[in-house]
Amino acid sequence: MAVGQDMKNRLSLVLALMLLCGGVQAFDPVEYFDKKCSSCHTIGGGDDVGPDLKGVTERRDQKWMMRFIRESQTVINAGDPIAVELFNKYRKKKMPDQDLSDEDVLALLDFIKSGGQGLEKAIASKSALEATGDEIHRGGQLFSGEVALAAGGPACIQCHSAGSAGPLGGGTLGPDLTQSYSNYNDQGLSKVLTKIAFPVMDQVYAGKALTEAEVYQLKSFLLKMDREGPAGKGAQKKFVFLGLIGLFLGFGAIDLSWRNRRRKSSRPTIGESE
Ligand code: HEC
Ligand code: HEC
Repeated sequence: MAVGQDMKNRLSLVLALMLLCGGVQAFDPVEYFDKKCSSCHTIGGGDDVGPDLKGVTERRDQKWMMRFIRESQTVINAGDPIAVELFNKYRKKKMPDQDLSDEDVLALLDFIKSGGQGLEKAIASKSALEATGDEIHRGGQLFSGEVALAAGGPACIQCHSAGSAGPLGGGTLGPDLTQSYSNYNDQGLSKVLTKIAFPVMDQVYAGKALTEAEVYQLKSFLLKMDREGPAGKGAQKKFVFLGLIGLFLGFGAIDLSWRNRRRKSSRPTIGESE
C-alpha cells in the first residue's frame, strides 16, 4: 500500500516535470523569437548578424520562408538564387535549422509581420544614433565613475579605456573599448552589456546588472568614442598629450597585448547561441 502510494507520487512528479519542461506548452512566438532568433536578427532595429526582419513577410514568398527558416543551409546548397545571395551578403554566416511545425513558423511570421510587438524591450533597443547630448554625457560619467552605477557595479574605467576616456587613468585588465561599437554593432553592444556575457566581467557584475538606461547611455558614449577614434581626433588635444606620456611610461605595450586579446574575444557570444 505504502509502496503504491510512493509510485504514484513519483509518477505525478515526473508528469509535473514534463509539463514544466514545456513538452505540452503552447508555442509562444515572442519567447521563441527572443531565445532563438534575436541573437542574430532585429525587427526594425537594423541589420545584425542576419538581416533586419522588418518587412521580410512582404519581400519574400511565404513558402520560401517556411522552408528557409527550417533548413536554410539545405536551401542555400540547392542553389536557390535568393538564399545564395543572402548567404554571401551576410558574410556566409549560417543560420541554424529550426525544428518547427508549419503552424509554429506561421506564428513566428505573424509575429514578425506585427513588427515584433512585445519584444521591443528585449531586443529592438533604440539605436545610439538617436542619443541626445545629455545621454552621451551621462554615459561618459558612468564610464568614468563620476556617477555611480545604480546596482553598485564598478565603473568601467577601472578595467577599460575608450578613446579619450582614460588613456592614462583607464584600467588595462579589460581591452580598450574605443572600437567596441563597431566590433559589436549597435544592437549587439546592447545585448552584451545587458547580459554581461564575458568571463571576467560577469563575476564582477553578478547581481549588479546595468539598468536599461545605463546600457543605453554607455552604448551612446561608446559610439562617440568610436567615431572620434583612438587619438581623439581634434576634440581631445589635451588627452593626446596625456596619451603620449602614457606611451612613454610603457602603457602602450600593455595596451597592445590587450588589443591582441580583444581580437580573439570579439563577438564571443553572438551568433552561436542556442
Ligand atoms: C546564428 C544567427 C542566426 C539565427 C539564430 C537566426 N538567423 Fe535568420 N538569418 C541569419 C543569417 C546570417 C541570414 C542571412 C542568410 C544566411 O546567411 O543564411 C538569415 C536570414 C533569415 C531570413 C531571410 C531574410 C531575408 O531578408 O530574406 C529569415 C526570414 C530569417 N533569417 C528568420 C529567422 C528566424 C525566424 C530565426 C529564429 C527562429 C532566425 N532567423 C535565427 C542568421 C540567423
Ligand atoms: C573588473 C574589471 C572590469 C570592469 C569593471 C569592466 N570590465 Fe568590461 N571587460 C573586462 C575584461 C577582462 C574583458 C575581456 C573579456 C573577459 O575576459 O571577461 C571585458 C570585456 C568587455 C567588452 C568586450 C570587449 C571586446 O573587445 O571584446 C566590453 C564591450 C566591455 N567589457 C564593456 C564594459 C563596460 C561598458 C563596463 C562598465 C559598465 C565594463 N566593461 C567594466 C573587465 C572589466
